[in-house]
Amino acid sequence: MTEALNTPNNNSAADASAIDASALDAEVNAEVNTAVIPLTSGEKNEGLAVVIGAGGGLGAAMLAQLKADGIYADVLGISRDAANGLAMDYLDEASIASAASTIAAHCAAHGQSLRLLIVATGFLHGPQGQPERSWTQLDAAYLQHVFAINTLGPALVMKHFFPLLPKQGRCVAGFFSAKVGSIGDNSLGGWYGYRASKAALNQLVKTASIELTRRNRQSVCVSLHPGTVATALSQPFAKTGLTVRPAPLAATALLQVLAGVTTADSGCLLDYLGGRLGF
Ligand SMILES: NC(=O)c1ccc[n+]([C@@H]2O[C@H](COP(=O)([O-])OP(=O)(O)OC[C@H]3O[C@@H](n4cnc5c(N)ncnc54)[C@H](OP(=O)(O)O)[C@@H]3O)[C@@H](O)[C@H]2O)c1
Repeated sequence: MTEALNTPNNNSAADASAIDASALDAEVNAEVNTAVIPLTSGEKNEGLAVVIGAGGGLGAAMLAQLKADGIYADVLGISRDAANGLAMDYLDEASIASAASTIAAHCAAHGQSLRLLIVATGFLHGPQGQPERSWTQLDAAYLQHVFAINTLGPALVMKHFFPLLPKQGRCVAGFFSAKVGSIGDNSLGGWYGYRASKAALNQLVKTASIELTRRNRQSVCVSLHPGTVATALSQPFAKTGLTVRPAPLAATALLQVLAGVTTADSGCLLDYLGGRLGF
């Protein structure tokens, strides 16, 4: 498994083992038993489901599956690209506030409640940089960007979207995190910024879950680990031999997890089988 993933400019086995397959978390790539968890906790409802990051590999798959399921009265996407839904960019808080206002107006106009909020955004590599293999590669600009997208953006989503969640009845917020955000699980090093930004996200989710429970005792707020999924985020690091699941399969499994979560799960990091992972 240690050689299953690699970095784009990785030239040595030592480098490969420093990053490791666990960087994208292949350990829980067991088969999904689609019969275990009911797809929905109830009948078709008045609820609105919102997916943030609707243009991403997992976000687009979650949005498509939710629309196909037809469980929610409405399903809306939010993305940097208005072609995928409402326009919003984490680097512009005004756009987050504006998108939240639009969702609030939609709920008021249609008599709906925001019952499911999925935050499927994230950043690992891009023009802003690549994940670090060593402290020698730590770069302030890359770190700022990875924290802006993986941590600060979701925090601002909490600020602007959580007030829209209903004060009564079941509502669920799921934030895409990663198993590498687990400090206790980190035995291989590497990927400083991504790991740290996801660890911080998990802390935000835990903290917000407590406040959300005070507001609505039936609310659930969780971090999600999707496993290794074939998307633009994982593509440069996947090597032959690693089980990389297609996004639609991962989306189906994660929606089943979200349908089955209970208030006891709130604040936890869950894998795509619904199991709790340590922080
Ligand atoms: N793929 C995997 O193997 C894997 C493994 C573990 C964890 N994860 C996590 O799963 C989540 C989804 O990842 P993915 O694989 O679907 O990656 P992806 O295809 O690269 O999608 C990530 C999405 O994040 C959104 N995003 C990026 N910059 C943004 C910004 N400035 N403002 C607002 N949104 C921004 C974009 O959505 P829009 O295009 O809609 O703007 C982008 O498409 C991430 O949190 C990732 O860390 C993935």
